[in-house]
Amino acid sequence: MQVETKIEEQIQTLLNNTIILNRRYLDDEQLQRVEQFKVLKEIFDVDVRDKEIRELSSHFAPMFRQDHPVHLSVYGKTGTGKTVTVLYLLNLFHSLCLKKGVEMKYIHLDLSTPKPCFRALNDLACLLDAAKRYKKGISLDELMGRIEDRIKSYTGYFVLFVDEVDHVRTDLDSFLKFLVKRLPQTIPSRLILVFSSNRLNWQENIDPRIKSFLKMNELFFAPYNALDLQKILALRIEKALNPKMVESGVLEKIAAVSSRNHGDARKAVELLSKSAQMAEKEGVPITLDLVDRAYDEIERDKYAAMIKSSPKQLQAALYSILSVPPSSHKPMQTGDAYNAYSAFCGKVGLRALTQRAFSDIVSELDMYGFIQARILSHGRYGRTKEIAVKLPPEVVLKIKHVVLLEFDLNPLARF
Ligand SMILES: Nc1ncnc2c1ncn2[C@@H]1O[C@H](COP(=O)(O)OP(=O)(O)OP(=O)(O)O)[C@@H](O)[C@H]1O
Ligand SMILES: [Mg+2]
Repeated sequence: MQVETKIEEQIQTLLNNTIILNRRYLDDEQLQRVEQFKVLKEIFDVDVRDKEIRELSSHFAPMFRQDHPVHLSVYGKTGTGKTVTVLYLLNLFHSLCLKKGVEMKYIHLDLSTPKPCFRALNDLACLLDAAKRYKKGISLDELMGRIEDRIKSYTGYFVLFVDEVDHVRTDLDSFLKFLVKRLPQTIPSRLILVFSSNRLNWQENIDPRIKSFLKMNELFFAPYNALDLQKILALRIEKALNPKMVESGVLEKIAAVSSRNHGDARKAVELLSKSAQMAEKEGVPITLDLVDRAYDEIERDKYAAMIKSSPKQLQAALYSILSVPPSSHKPMQTGDAYNAYSAFCGKVGLRALTQRAFSDIVSELDMYGFIQARILSHGRYGRTKEIAVKLPPEVVLKIKHVVLLEFDLNPLARF
């Protein structure tokens, strides 16, 4: 066969077996707002989040008869669609308002990374074009004044969506006091605050004087069920993948696994995306078995990412525990782990903690789910901890690899 024909055929086979046709639909970060809204419209058209959409609509309905809706607090676990649903509806209300001659504006203040009150207000001021980004040199009061000045001539409805409000650290009280008490009195527009949070109790520690001003409706987003997730995933498959390369049952499986474990749409899409990537790399269709492997790999990456961002002492302790050879006749004791840890610290030049402090770290590792620790009482001989490692071997390997790299050691050398 001529070389050109051979190459052409090979390219054609590769093209025929392509799995990912439009990668962007597997990662919302890459989608433009308009595209994202289009996806959502298709999903909402098939009645996903129907109850929440009805409640949001009736909450905002008073705007259309010149009445003032109260504030709103939206709760729900991560990935339940709070942000996308609220934004989609605000966008819709905005066009409806335009049509009906009602003046309305909305702003999305995204606090998905924790920040102090100053940063949050500065972000808000930037969104409103009321100030530039400051590191310092401007007081909270001045920032607040700038925000007020910027909107003091606006008389319509002003919806401020404060997304992940509990991420305002030091201090949430000042932040809310401004939004709830001061701002409504200093601007002529009708302010409607929409808060979202993963935590049901985010208002628990607010100053009662502010709380008494916070008249709110509440809306709860339940985790997605398997049927919802199937609809969400089906659309992603349609937009992003070559349907011929997706075996039957894959969609149902991802939806079932995801609804059972978390009901998080973000993670479900991530599992689909990982399966597609792995299949493409291996040059095979997405099969049920591949979904299992993709799931394991995501889990593995999760632990690895968690330990990578942990303090050095935690990394050293976990590495040492994972390196103690398992014994068939007796479970690992804190003492065994501590010896391994001291030796590791010596090797990498890290100051070793006392056995007592080490024991606290063991508890912390237990809390994060890396290990299981059980306290044993030996009467007057005191107490020890028994440590068990239940992570799959490939996860252990990956964690050890990551830690060694964090200590600038070569994971391929033997320790
Ligand atoms: N109804 C839906 N239709 C299509 N995709 C959805 C839907 N709900 C959620 N998603 C997907 O899940 C991702 C997470 O949704 P969203 O950001 O709204 O969750 P959230 O509840 O705000 O989570 P967090 O509390 O972590 O902010 C979105 O980027 C989108 O990819
Ligand atoms: Mg969100």
